[in-house]
This record gives sequence, structure tokens and C-alpha cells, in this order.
Amino acid sequence: MRRGHTIGLCFGSAGVGKTLSARRYAHYEKAHDLLTYWGPRSDNDAKIYAALNRSRTVLYTPSVLTTPRTLKDELTQAITRTNMCIEQHLVPPGTATPEAWGWRHGRNYVELIIVDEAERLRPAALELLRDRYDRDDIALILIGMPGLEKQFSHYPQFYSRVGFAHQYRPLGQDELLFVLERHWRS
Ligand SMILES: Nc1ncnc2c1ncn2[C@@H]1O[C@H](COP(=O)(O)OP(=O)(O)OP(=O)(O)O)[C@@H](O)[C@H]1O
Ligand SMILES: [Mg+2]
Repeated sequence: MRRGHTIGLCFGSAGVGKTLSARRYAHYEKAHDLLTYWGPRSDNDAKIYAALNRSRTVLYTPSVLTTPRTLKDELTQAITRTNMCIEQHLVPPGTATPEAWGWRHGRNYVELIIVDEAERLRPAALELLRDRYDRDDIALILIGMPGLEKQFSHYPQFYSRVGFAHQYRPLGQDELLFVLERHWRS
């Protein structure tokens, strides 16, 4: 998926674990503070750089009233910061010659953008996402409530790029029993 440069839609009802799974995949708990506050570095950050290098993923949640301009600025910032972290992992400061570093600098390592709460995206924002990240060969996953796939089917250019749709389902009875038996105490 990440290398297929496609668009994926993931939908499921409230509380089914959409946000949780996206956060897990993007190492959100580890990376969020660093990427958001962008403060002084600490020695522990190396772990975060390594995690971001593994996922190569940016998780973005538009706010309710996000305009296309804000979306563009916020995503650009998130991608730039993620790239800088990955670069720190691949080329720790002091290890590369200035020429080699200059060559790598500005390179894009991000392979996947996950947009949570994607029903908030208005048509112009969708179009921007499709166009912008198409050109950079970055795959997109949009996460939202059931109905998301219908909402987007009105935009043929966008919809024709959708490579897969995945529906999150609540656990079935056997799965629920399995989880409860093993994890009830904790
Ligand atoms: N498969 C799961 N395993 C463990 N915890 C889960 C799972 N699914 C949901 N949860 C729990 O339920 C809560 C809600 O999950 P989450 O926020 O991921 O739902 P969501 O699908 O994003 O819902 P919404 O549509 O409201 O955004 C989480 O805090 C999480 O702890
Ligand atoms: Mg959610």
C-alpha cells in the first residue's frame, strides 16, 4: 500500500478503533509531542526518529473548520518535520560529509499520509490532497465514518484513484470471547 501510491478509504462506526489503529501505525504516541512542539532535542529522540523511519507515515487530523489553505500549511509542516526526523536517523549529525548531507537535504521520505476524520474535508481540500500528493507519489489513506465512501464517490477524479476500501467491523462473538478471556483481568 505504502509503495503502491494509491488512495485507500477506511471507514467504520464510532469507537470501533479507527483512530487507535492509525495512531499505532504512525507511532503517534511516541512522535506527537516532538512533531507538535518542535522544542529542544533530547537524547531519547533517537528512538522517535527510528520509529518514524520505520513507519514513514504522517497522521493528520483536520479540525472541523479546516480550509484548504490551512490543510496545505499544516500538512506541509508535518511532512517537513517528519522528513527532518527521518533524516536525523539515516544521517546522524557529524557522520556525513557536508556534500553528502547537502545532497540528501530536502529529500522526501514520507510514503503515506493518513487523514483521520476525513469527512471534514471539503471538495477543494480533497482535490488539493489528490493533486499535491499524486505528484510526489505519496499514498493516502482517508479514515472516517461509514458513508465516507459515498461522500467521495461524487468526485470521479478522486474516486478513480481509490485503490481499496476497508470497513472496520466490531469484534464478532468468538473474537470478543477470546479478548475477554485473555485480557479481562488487566
Ligand atoms: N480494537 C481495539 N483494541 C483496543 N481498544 C480499542 C479497540 N477499538 C477501540 N478501542 C478503544 O475504544 C476507544 C475508541 O477508539 P477510537 O478512538 O480508535 O475509535 P474511532 O473508530 O476512531 O471512533 P470515532 O469514529 O468516534 O473517531 C479507544 O480509546 C480505544 O481504547
Ligand atoms: Mg476517531
